[in-house]
Amino acid sequence: MKVEMRLDARTLLRTFWLIKFCLHSLQLSIINGIAMYSPKVLEHLENPRNVGEMADATANAVATNPVCGDLLHLYLKMADGKIVEASFKVQGCPPSIAAGSVLTEMITGLMIEEARKLTPQDVTRALESLPRNKEHCSTLAIDALRAALADQSR
Ligand code: FES
Repeated sequence: MKVEMRLDARTLLRTFWLIKFCLHSLQLSIINGIAMYSPKVLEHLENPRNVGEMADATANAVATNPVCGDLLHLYLKMADGKIVEASFKVQGCPPSIAAGSVLTEMITGLMIEEARKLTPQDVTRALESLPRNKEHCSTLAIDALRAALADQSR
């Protein structure tokens, strides 16, 4: 009987530590959820640039990420070998909104050949940083750009 009591106390103690560990992990993930975005990402989320369809776009394309399901639609207006206007729509996570927003800023006024050379790392750098598990949001933006440039060249 005495042994059983000790086992119960040990089980209780283990349960206590397990719950304490889970609460600590939950607290950390909440803190990380708020703190994981750079000031630049947060600024683009608060004030996204160039949002919406462009009726007179000369090219447009949709990129999707089949894993997370996010979708980015990019519209371009080009003239004289240059991107003169860009806009976007996103159905996706906050970093994909920030990536679309910063991409439209980066490419507006850029020569098409220069835009072709942009990489996901350029978008991530323009956002200062992205959490590792969100770096593919920059890839989504660049996929949309490359598809739109291919659409234009058809
Ligand atoms: Fe997949 Fe953002 S989570 S593009």
